[in-house]
Amino acid sequence: MSGLLSLCDVTVRFGGLVAVNNVSIEVHAGMIHSLIGPNGAGKTTIINTVTGVYAPSQGAIGFDGRPLAGVTPDQICRRGLTRTFQNTELFADMTVADNIRVGMHSTAEYGLLSAILRSRCCRATEARMSERVTELLALVNLADQRGTQACALPLAKMRRLELARALAANPRMLLLDEPAAGLRASEIEEMNATLLMLRNKLGIAILLVDHVMPVVMGVSDLITVVNFGQKIAEGTPKQVRSNPAVIAAYLGH
Ligand SMILES: Nc1ncnc2c1ncn2[C@@H]1O[C@H](COP(=O)(O)OP(=O)(O)OP(=O)(O)O)[C@@H](O)[C@H]1O
Ligand SMILES: [Mg+2]
Repeated sequence: MSGLLSLCDVTVRFGGLVAVNNVSIEVHAGMIHSLIGPNGAGKTTIINTVTGVYAPSQGAIGFDGRPLAGVTPDQICRRGLTRTFQNTELFADMTVADNIRVGMHSTAEYGLLSAILRSRCCRATEARMSERVTELLALVNLADQRGTQACALPLAKMRRLELARALAANPRMLLLDEPAAGLRASEIEEMNATLLMLRNKLGIAILLVDHVMPVVMGVSDLITVVNFGQKIAEGTPKQVRSNPAVIAAYLGH
């Protein structure tokens, strides 16, 4: 296990269905590693298993040199591994800024009593959080949307807000489940620039799941391809693009 995130011979079964079959993946620090494959290949199941939603039926997962077995999703987030969801899971009626604050819950430094009494510590933390919200909004190019209700945002901005909320937990690594789904060409370019900025400027490692090839091919250092739960290929974008097993999986023969 030499990567920041290591999956070692991971199998996930749902009753008789083998959703992930003996998959090993190493995601290295500061890299963008994509996980691609046809619908139902097991990509979201892998993200759900890494983040503690499901326990692997077999195999082991480690992050930063420590096993994740038995660690809750909340603790995994505190260790520096944060995710986004295939169908954006924002708090629709809350403002953009408040959605980001929710992402900071794992770093809040005061308790309930302190909050009720509005203590000095609580007010200082609130001021720091507000500054951090401003920073994160600038980072994902949403500075002018601070007070907008999340449900009023167009899809591309919702996706960037999800990224900002995930970043609010100060992760070392992000697991992104289809951040570019449904985006138009110009929005895809902006998503690529944002992902590259996260890697290059903040040094965040990313495990990226997406069907949008201009994103996957445009930003990935390495790509793992899965089909019917099994790993069928791994390599650079150039290697994967010309791999006959990958072409056959996508063309269905
Ligand atoms: N909670 C569950 N219970 C039973 N089966 C499940 C569960 N979650 C996923 N599956 C099944 O596991 C397989 C892999 O699903 P998964 O959602 O991981 O695919 P995916 O690669 O993310 O596909 P897509 O590209 O369509 O999002 C599918 O056959 C799916 O129906
Ligand atoms: Mg999926």
